[in-house]
Amino acid sequence: MRILIIGNGFLGSKLYTRLEDNDVYMASLHGKNCIQLDMFDADAVHTLYQVIKPELTILTAAMTNVDECEQKPELARRINSFSIINFIVAINFYGGKIIYISTDNVFDGTKGNYIPEDKPNPINVYGRTKLEGERTIINYNIPYLILRTSVLYGWGNSRFFSWCYENLNEGREIKISKEYTVSPTLVDDLVNFIHSNLDFKENKILHVCGREAVTKYEFAIKIAKVFNFDQNLIKEATDFKQIALRPKNSSMITCSDMFKNVEDGLQYLR
Ligand SMILES: NC(=O)c1ccc[n+]([C@@H]2O[C@H](COP(=O)([O-])OP(=O)(O)OC[C@H]3O[C@@H](n4cnc5c(N)ncnc54)[C@H](OP(=O)(O)O)[C@@H]3O)[C@@H](O)[C@H]2O)c1
Repeated sequence: MRILIIGNGFLGSKLYTRLEDNDVYMASLHGKNCIQLDMFDADAVHTLYQVIKPELTILTAAMTNVDECEQKPELARRINSFSIINFIVAINFYGGKIIYISTDNVFDGTKGNYIPEDKPNPINVYGRTKLEGERTIINYNIPYLILRTSVLYGWGNSRFFSWCYENLNEGREIKISKEYTVSPTLVDDLVNFIHSNLDFKENKILHVCGREAVTKYEFAIKIAKVFNFDQNLIKEATDFKQIALRPKNSSMITCSDMFKNVEDGLQYLR
């Protein structure tokens, strides 16, 4: 299958490697080791589709820094929401399907164990703009799969896991709040899931995440246990201040048994 991955960040670059048994292309804003594309540029998106004519687009690119989105809401809206129409126009014109990667931040975090039928109610700019992206896709007549995931981890530049691993490995203390419950997702499980669903037939929203809900503090303790780091280096952050609000419990129920629990996911990385 001819596949175009938009975004060469943590997920995009893993997908590119995993999907190499296909005719796969990748594009991102800065174009490091891939095609350069600003997805907000409608002409550039159209030209790229004219050349590649992808049968499947996997849209991983986004403004993903939650605090930065809060500080620059117009930029977040341009990237996460307004850009999506450019792909819809191109797919309407040249054909093809889209897999859109979304987030647990579309929920307000008051319930936890979210299923796709639960009503989204984002409490930060990141969540709101990603939800707008989802709704733009749903409102137009193109074949789609919307995959909502949560705290991706694995080797490479995964924010929370890499930060914990590097600090604990260097013997440095880290402070983490016990307030936030998530469904940590092994990135390798997600790319395998996508690989198995390239040929999807039905438009759907799916929750694709690890099978276990834990606080970020518990996640860090499990990282320390599995990699034999000193657990005493992990302290509770009590005066934890962030720019954007985070959902307290954004855990989701996964749609597939391809996703591991946290301990098995970490053991896989060992
Ligand atoms: N990571 C997580 O824990 C997590 C959790 C839930 C959902 N998600 C969702 O999963 C997806 C992938 O996340 P990730 O961690 O792989 O993100 P990431 O590492 O931050 O990568 C984001 C990518 O978006 C690209 N990008 C940003 N603006 C662009 C533009 N205007 N035009 C083209 N490309 C642009 C960046 O390109 P450059 O590198 O060239 O700048 C980068 O490659 C995102 O949609 C995110 O919302 C992630």
